[in-house]
Amino acid sequence: MSDATGPALLAPIIAHRGASGDAPENTLAALSLAADHGASCVEIDVSISADGIPFVHHDNKLDRCTTGQGFLCEHSAAELDLLDASKGMPGFEGEPLPRLEAVFDLLEARGLGLNLEIKPREGLEAPTVDAIGALVERRWPSHLPLVISSFSRSSLALSRERIPDIPRALLVGAIPDDWQALVETYGCRNIHCDGSSLTPEQARELRLAGLGIYCYTVNEPELAARLLGIDKETGAQGDTATAAHGIFTDYPKLLAEYLGI
Ligand code: G3P
Ligand code: MG
Repeated sequence: MSDATGPALLAPIIAHRGASGDAPENTLAALSLAADHGASCVEIDVSISADGIPFVHHDNKLDRCTTGQGFLCEHSAAELDLLDASKGMPGFEGEPLPRLEAVFDLLEARGLGLNLEIKPREGLEAPTVDAIGALVERRWPSHLPLVISSFSRSSLALSRERIPDIPRALLVGAIPDDWQALVETYGCRNIHCDGSSLTPEQARELRLAGLGIYCYTVNEPELAARLLGIDKETGAQGDTATAAHGIFTDYPKLLAEYLGI
């Protein structure tokens, strides 16, 4: 098992589901646009098809974002390959629901780091982690940063077994009272939390514990500046002792321009 410690660094600005404010979330188009907009890291959500192929998609069900219906995990990969994932985003018609493998190819070509969030359907944690682990071992370009996160505690535990050397992040809403025990239990180097509730005091404690801190989903420039400890008048980096290491945003270009980074 890996004994690496310290923050698993990604980037100060991470494109959440790609540049998902301007392109259909979790698609190749959104990830490519994130790179065009200057992002160096992206976040995606991953689950598996009925035949165990990892696909990039946020919801358990296909209905909100694609031309499909029902649970993603009840469709074969061949069926999912036929879907259009541009629902609600005119101008992107024909954009496929991407396989994770296609996303890895794109990230390697564009030099993008990744926070891969495991989003298993309840009960499918083991095959989901297994399929992702196999693909990470086979295809992830190891020179690029990769952090695995999940709200699913069993997925973190399984990831620790399956791909121990890939850093893990405890994914939470507000910082829970028992964060130290959880970080220890799942061998996490980062905490990824809801940026609207993180206090400077909590950030200081997490930093002192040697953890990386990344906050979702931060689309308001002023909140991003506060969380990152950047003075919005001068653009200068202030005290990092109470700052997050990065934020997830749907608008990476907008925030990079505002923050001057
Ligand atoms: O991984 C950070 C963030 O994506 C977690 O929430 O629902 O957007 O996947 P969600
Ligand atoms: Mg996510």
